Order: sequence, then structure tokens, then C-alpha cells
Amino acid sequence: TWTMENVVKSSVEEIKATVGDKKVILGLSGGVDSTVAAVLIHKAIGRNLTCIFVDNGLMRLNEREKLEESLTNKLDLNIKFVDASERFLTALDGVSDPEQKRKLIGNIFIDVFEDEASKVDGAEFLGQGTLYPDVIESQSVFGGASDVIKSHHNVGGLPEDMKLKLVEPLKYLFKDEVRALGEEMGIPDDLVWRQPFPGPGLGIRVLGEITKRRLDILREADAIIVEEIKKAGFYKKVWQSFAVLLPIKSVGVMGDQRTYDYTVAMRAVTSKDAMTADWARLPHDLLARISNRVINEVNGVNRMVYDITSKPPGTIEWE
Ligand code: XMP
Repeated sequence: TWTMENVVKSSVEEIKATVGDKKVILGLSGGVDSTVAAVLIHKAIGRNLTCIFVDNGLMRLNEREKLEESLTNKLDLNIKFVDASERFLTALDGVSDPEQKRKLIGNIFIDVFEDEASKVDGAEFLGQGTLYPDVIESQSVFGGASDVIKSHHNVGGLPEDMKLKLVEPLKYLFKDEVRALGEEMGIPDDLVWRQPFPGPGLGIRVLGEITKRRLDILREADAIIVEEIKKAGFYKKVWQSFAVLLPIKSVGVMGDQRTYDYTVAMRAVTSKDAMTADWARLPHDLLARISNRVINEVNGVNRMVYDITSKPPGTIEWE
């Protein structure tokens, strides 16, 4: 019978049969797809799987720590964390065009990943969290693209000469099945139910020029939004909910002080496949709570707006 337990069993058998005692590398982004693929492959071949997590300096708050806690400590995955943030941020210095940002981030990612991959002695396979919809609609650029390798295809793709054979254990599954599989294998809710996050990360959510300070402001605001959205029970109901940092300052007043600080925009949308989307009709008291917290707790922010644009004509991301 077709139960998740059986899917795990047969996938593990198949991976074992394909890979044997050879080594596999996998780009781990922390998204559902790459995480479930990693845990599945790990179940099959254990330490012969090396996951590579590239910190591009454009991650959300405590992203690495969360992965270490649930995947390294609890599930014993072999993860190589590569801090390449300096390299990314240096390259992005002064760059404000969205497509140029994407290109830069994608190219450096491939470089760093390839570099790390070549350090894994005797790796013959590349593990990927490709889903069935990705396979049948490989021409669609973003729909459901949450796997780190695939998500960078739109900015260059992996080099031809990597010569690795692919292991794609999720190739015949849909997103909801991948989540069920993740739950079956004991991956924490926090990872299994993650909303999509773009490959270029916060790089395309700090509008205009990216600086460390702007990234830090955005990270704090974003963490508050996600925390409150989760607390109110909306995290799974919306497609994405996140903060965007605008590159403009405006005047405000706090206590008896005049302020001149940044504006945070909040984006929360409902969607089926990211091709179309509508802004989420969130309760006003939730919006009020978020706005109060962001402005009071995040230094450098004195105004918050809620994005009420649908897609089309808007996009989900602001860049
Ligand atoms: P837009 O902004 O085009 O986004 O409405 C649709 C979906 O795709 C995600 N997105 C990206 N994902 N690399 C990615 O991996 C990107 O460059 C990129 N741009 C947007 C976005 O978060 C949404 O889920």
C-alpha cells in the first residue's frame, strides 16, 4: 500500500541501489525540498552524504543556527557550513539593479559551491530536491522553485563540467507529499512548513544598495513579522509573508524626538503556485501589533506600510 512509511522505505532502497558506497554532495538551502532530499539521502547512505550550506550573508535571522540545531544535532546530518558572506557583500557593494544583483549572487554561489564540492574527495553524485512539477515544467522559472541549486538556474545554473550524476529522490512527488515525507522522517515543523524563500535571499528585499546595516534592520523586522504571523496562525495559510526594506527615509516622531528613519514594507500574499497572487486580508489588529513591534523594537525604522498589490500587475518580491 502507498503510505509515507513505504515511500521512505522504497526511496531509501532506490538511493542505496543507485549510489552504492559512493559519495554524494548536496546544496542545502534550508528550504523544504533540499532539506527533505538531504534527510532522505542521509537515511540511505549516512555520512557518505555531504551537505553544503553556503552562507551568502543574505540569510534571515539565525538561519544557520536553526539548521544546525535540527539537522546536525537532532538528525545527525553531515553539513559543511561555508561562510562566504564577505565575498558576496563585497561583490554587491554599490550594486542596486535587481537583475545585476541576481546575476552576481547566482554566479558567486556557483563558484563557492563548486569550490567546496571539489574538496569532498571522490564525490560522484549530486543530490537535488527537484520535485515533479519542476520536472514537468522545467521551462517555468520560479513556480515552486525553492531548491537552492535549481533556484539559481535562472542566474547561470551549475557548470557543465561538474560531471556529477544526479540523485533526485523527490522527482515524482508534489510539494504536499514532500512535506508529508518530511514529517514522516521527523523533520521539525519549522523546516517542513517553511514558506518559499528566493535564492538571492534578502539581497532582493533590501531595495537598492545592500549594506550590512540595512540587512540587519531587515532581518530584525522580518523576524518580528514571521513570529507574529505564526503566533496568529497565519503562517501556513499564506503563501509568503515577509519584510522589505525601502531605501528611503521619512520623518516621524518618537517620544518628543523627531526621527528620520527607514520604512519597512510588509508583504503577505495568498497564492497556489506563485504565478498569480493576492495580498492577504490579515486582521487589522495583527497588522497593528506587527507595526508597533517593528517600529518600537527595530532601531532605524520609523514607518511601516502594508503592500496591497495583487500579482499581476505586481510581483510578489519587490525586486
Ligand atoms: P515574483 O516576485 O516573481 O516571485 O512574483 C514569484 C516567486 O518566486 C520567488 N522568487 C525567486 N526565487 N530566485 C528564486 O529562487 C529568484 O531570483 C526569485 N525571484 C522571486 C518569490 O519569492 C516568489 O515565491
